[in-house]
Amino acid sequence: MKLTCKYLGSCRGCPLGHLDIDEQRRLKKNKLIESLNRALPAEMIKNAVYDFVFPVFDRYRTRCDFIYSDGKLGWVDQDKKFLPIDECPLHVSELTSFASFVSKLPWPVKRGSMRLRVSPAGTRGIWLDLANLDIKEILSNSSVLNDLFDAGVIVEMGQKGKRVERVGDVYKLIEPSPYPWFKTEVDGKPADLNSLISSFTQTSPELNLQMIQHLKSFLADRKFTDMVEFGSGAGNFTLFLASYASTINVIENDNRNLIPLRQNIHQFGLQNKIYIFESVGSFFKNNKASAGLYFVNPARSGVGALFDQAVPAESIIYVSCHLESFLSDVAKLGSQGFKLINVTLFDQFPHADHFEILSFLELTP
Ligand SMILES: C[S@@+](CC[C@H](N)C(=O)[O-])C[C@H]1O[C@@H](n2cnc3c(N)ncnc32)[C@H](O)[C@@H]1O
Repeated sequence: MKLTCKYLGSCRGCPLGHLDIDEQRRLKKNKLIESLNRALPAEMIKNAVYDFVFPVFDRYRTRCDFIYSDGKLGWVDQDKKFLPIDECPLHVSELTSFASFVSKLPWPVKRGSMRLRVSPAGTRGIWLDLANLDIKEILSNSSVLNDLFDAGVIVEMGQKGKRVERVGDVYKLIEPSPYPWFKTEVDGKPADLNSLISSFTQTSPELNLQMIQHLKSFLADRKFTDMVEFGSGAGNFTLFLASYASTINVIENDNRNLIPLRQNIHQFGLQNKIYIFESVGSFFKNNKASAGLYFVNPARSGVGALFDQAVPAESIIYVSCHLESFLSDVAKLGSQGFKLINVTLFDQFPHADHFEILSFLELTP
């Protein structure tokens, strides 16, 4: 089975899209195994249990970061030129029809970044990450906002993800307002995850719930007094981890994630269990470093200095979408005595050349 897409060859999104899906999966599997063997000491991986999960082929993404340019939505191609995209086979159909609606609006700007999202309940949202002058223009020349609001679309604007509010005929910016744009798990059941349109979320609520099931299989019936989580985002994994810990110290540094994170903690009554630190520095100053489990899900750059000193934990779960930073971070753990117990390739990026890695490490004598 192969992907059908008229943009293959020019679009950067699916570099493996020209290959049969079974061939893609074989390549990814081999890449993970060979990279681990090359980068990590044999002793560290010799008992690791591998799993390969390929949960999806197409039509699964519920959000997309577009560039708007002169009446078209698209993104940058392999030659760094603007590539208008009418339809992407990875997007759910609601996202495709929403993008078509947005591209036809009478935008008073020539070019800018727009993130489009569709919630599990079908609500549509747009984040206009535009220059201040363009934001002013859209707020004062209200025709585009009238069309968006009349169609029930939720609008955020600017770097801070401020919500746009309609008051009579006038539009104004108010504080960022989280909304259930995503799904996670709380107390063993699927639950709404509040986020901003501009917050980080995984690629698809359904795949996210599957990933959580897989992570739960690593934890089995373990319980921890203290847990540390690095890169919580809006609390996607924090909320399911709350069932496994008495206390979770969370490190997250982006305000567009911290705002919904605080709301989610409050909504689920977890204020006496989950404590937030806005930087690794402030976390270490509070002497909370020692924990039964470190759960890390960093950005592509990896965990930074967090693993430079001995990690005071018995177990670590490392979730990564970037193989190279995963390998260099995990190599540091190898020299501290951690061993890989489980490694799962969870492919939430079909047709791309990367994949999600779910891993479980334990400190062994
Ligand atoms: C891949 S996202 C994961 C978010 C979340 N776990 C989820 O599943 O939605 C990585 C997160 O790490 C956060 N992050 C990146 N660098 C950080 C740092 N130096 N300190 C704290 N958080 C950081 C980002 O803001 C982002 O929320």
